[in-house]
Amino acid sequence: MFYRPEDGHGLPHNPFNAIVSPRPIGWISTRGSTGDNLAPYSFFNAVAYVPPQVMFSSTGRKDSLRNIRETAVFAANIVEYAIRERMNLTSGAYPPDTDEFALAGIAKAECETIDCPRVDGAPATLECRMTEIVTLKGDGNFLIIGEVVGIRLRDDCVVNGRFDVTRFNPVARGGYRDYSVVREVFEMIRPGER
Ligand SMILES: Cc1cc2nc3c(=O)[nH]c(=O)nc-3n(C[C@H](O)[C@H](O)[C@H](O)COP(=O)(O)O)c2cc1C
Repeated sequence: MFYRPEDGHGLPHNPFNAIVSPRPIGWISTRGSTGDNLAPYSFFNAVAYVPPQVMFSSTGRKDSLRNIRETAVFAANIVEYAIRERMNLTSGAYPPDTDEFALAGIAKAECETIDCPRVDGAPATLECRMTEIVTLKGDGNFLIIGEVVGIRLRDDCVVNGRFDVTRFNPVARGGYRDYSVVREVFEMIRPGER
């Protein structure tokens, strides 16, 4: 089949999210005038090495975006399989003053380099200073880009000098209500590499 998004897909559910998948999940923690906030975003990725930068996008004017406009910082916590249900709980449409850490029973700690909460015990946390908020086409689509100024790795996830994802099994988002989990990795050598 082929379709132009502007004409509709004719399927029972939009396939777009299932096409671009699996997507990593940035579990974004922020602090604002109404308190601390935590929510998952799967329009999330790393976008540069030097300096390291990440992005996520908010499809709507959400609490995370509002807090980042206030403070210019955020943290991206990595989600492990064991905590998937709590991650999902934090995605509810709660009032702005809801602390999703408390609501979902997630231990909170302070970031090292920014005034921002983080998920205590996450396999990794990227502490970010917002560099740009790009207004995307459409109604209420925003791309938030941040420079990673502090990186915390959980000690048991660093094995033989490598950050080992098989130690915690990252969860990724698919389309519909689908998720996937990384339990197996394999290596490939790029042309010209030894
Ligand atoms: C796994 C997962 C991924 C999500 N990814 C996004 C996303 O990329 N962008 C977005 O705007 N909302 C996304 N959502 C929905 C937000 O988490 C949800 O709207 C949440 O209430 C936003 O919280 P906030 O208002 O506290 O920022 C996702 C939800 C789940 C469960």
